[in-house]
Amino acid sequence: MSLLDHLLANNRNWAASKIAQDPDFFQQLTKQQKPKYLWIGCADSRVPANQIIGLAPGEVFVHRNVANLVIHTDFNALSVIEYAVEVLKVEHIIVCGHYGCGGIEAATRIEQRGLVDNWLRHIQDIHQKYRTELAELPSKEAQLQRLCELNVREQLNNVCRTTIIQSAWQRGQKLFLHGWVYSINDGLVRELWPDINHVETII
Ligand code: CO
Repeated sequence: MSLLDHLLANNRNWAASKIAQDPDFFQQLTKQQKPKYLWIGCADSRVPANQIIGLAPGEVFVHRNVANLVIHTDFNALSVIEYAVEVLKVEHIIVCGHYGCGGIEAATRIEQRGLVDNWLRHIQDIHQKYRTELAELPSKEAQLQRLCELNVREQLNNVCRTTIIQSAWQRGQKLFLHGWVYSINDGLVRELWPDINHVETII
C-alpha cells in the first residue's frame, strides 16, 4: 500500500482499456515513436496537450514549462526542438499559450517571488515592448488576454529564429509553425498565427 495507490489503480485500468480496444497497442508503441507534432505549451495542469487535440500516446512530442517560453539559452527547450526536428522529423510545431495563465499574470505584478522572477522577466520584457498597444485596451482583463497572445507571438518568433528551424527550412524540410491560444473557459483553441513555413512569413 502506498499513498498513490489510486493513481496506480487508474494506470492499471487505463492500460487494460487500451489493450481491450487494441491488443497490439503497447507492442506498436515499443517499436518507435513517429509523432508529426511538437507541442510547446504551459505547465498548467488545465492545459494537457494530448487531450486538447485528441491525440493518443505516440502522436505528439511535448515540451511544457511555465508560460510556454522558448528562451535562446534554454538547453532544455532547444534540445527538445532539435530532437523533434532533426530526429523525429515532426512536420508541425505548435506554440500554445492559454488565457488565464498564472505565469503571465504574475509577470505583470511587481513582487519578489524568488527564482521564478528570472523566468518571468522574459514576459515582463514582452509586456514592456507592447505597453502602448496594451494600454489602449479597456480593462486589465483584456490586457492580460492580449499579453497571453503576444507571448505566443514572441515565442513563435524565438522558435523560428533558432538555428535548428533556420537550417531545417534551408535544407527544404517540410516544417510548419503554428501559434495558438487555448481557452480554459470553453476548452477551445484559437488559431492566431497558422502555417508559418518561411522566415519571411514570421509575424
Ligand atoms: Co500558464
